[in-house]
Amino acid sequence: MERTFLMIKPDGVQRGLIGEIVARFERKGLQLVAAKFMKVDAALAECHYEEHKGKPFYPPLIDFITSSPVFAMVWQGDNVIALTRALIGKTNAVEAAPGTIRSDYAVHTNFNLIHGSDSPENAAREIGIFFRPEELVDYEQMTQRWI
Ligand code: TYD
Ligand code: MG
Repeated sequence: MERTFLMIKPDGVQRGLIGEIVARFERKGLQLVAAKFMKVDAALAECHYEEHKGKPFYPPLIDFITSSPVFAMVWQGDNVIALTRALIGKTNAVEAAPGTIRSDYAVHTNFNLIHGSDSPENAAREIGIFFRPEELVDYEQMTQRWI
């Protein structure tokens, strides 16, 4: 059983797409472990996106992610990292496959609606910077035996 960090970015919150996006992960059969509606400050943004420091899109990315609230989540399930990345779609909405979140709702790379961890190492790191251990809710998903 794997865990991942997903975050609906300011554009998704402002456009009223939280429910639409969360519904896709629920319908897939994944299990919600934690969720938090919050503002990201500069320090947290810089920590979260440290791998992109120095790239041309980094300063506008930090401005964007701190500009308005986000909806941060932890989800779990078998292969949840690859599954959620597939549901999210490629970074550039133009290249995202039809039916993915970014293809269905996004137009530009810098307003691509949602973040998803790309590896077990990054998932653990990102969960750890956004959530305290006691905020991760341990419970049995009753539908699990049918998924
Ligand atoms: P990245 O980790 O490459 O993409 P993903 O979110 O699919 O894992 O980049 C992080 C975010 O940075 C990306 O979601 C949007 C922004 N970004 C740009 O604005 N321009 C770019 O050219 C790239 C590569 C990313
Ligand atoms: Mg990434």
